[in-house]
Amino acid sequence: KKERTLAILKPDVVTKIGDFLELIYSSNLIVTKAKMSCLTCNQAADFYAEHQSKPFFNNLVQYVSSGPLVAMELMGTDAVSAWRRLLGPTDSPTRRESPQNVRSQMGAEGIKNVGHGSDSLAAAARELEFFFPSTVGLGPGNTA
Ligand code: CMP
Repeated sequence: KKERTLAILKPDVVTKIGDFLELIYSSNLIVTKAKMSCLTCNQAADFYAEHQSKPFFNNLVQYVSSGPLVAMELMGTDAVSAWRRLLGPTDSPTRRESPQNVRSQMGAEGIKNVGHGSDSLAAAARELEFFFPSTVGLGPGNTA
């Protein structure tokens, strides 16, 4: 099924954007929107609101707002799971058991886990709207 998902390249890997584009296109996904953006702490906290109660929340917000990131809309068959499969498991121990993924290859560690991918179609819709708002007045860069 053809899907859209949000992919984020986090601050440590934005200079590797070329490698990601090659990987994305060779995986039968296409980039339909893209931008480089700096989030404020508040915007990052908004984006990750579902993790508010987690012990790593403050570090996560601090990290993703520490520099520019690249946000992309990817489109393709099963794009949501396809992009997450390319990234590999979030969790470092799980990742070490199956190192054929971008996070392993790019040295992801703890909070600095290289990239983000929406975890469901509903999350993708919400997260795409956050970075690429269809209504003026929503999302980063369009705040009042
Ligand atoms: P991301 O896919 O952007 O969405 C949630 C983020 O929370 C995740 O990437 C990690 O950066 C972070 N995260 C999730 N679980 C952990 C964990 N156990 N330890 C540290 N960070 C985590």
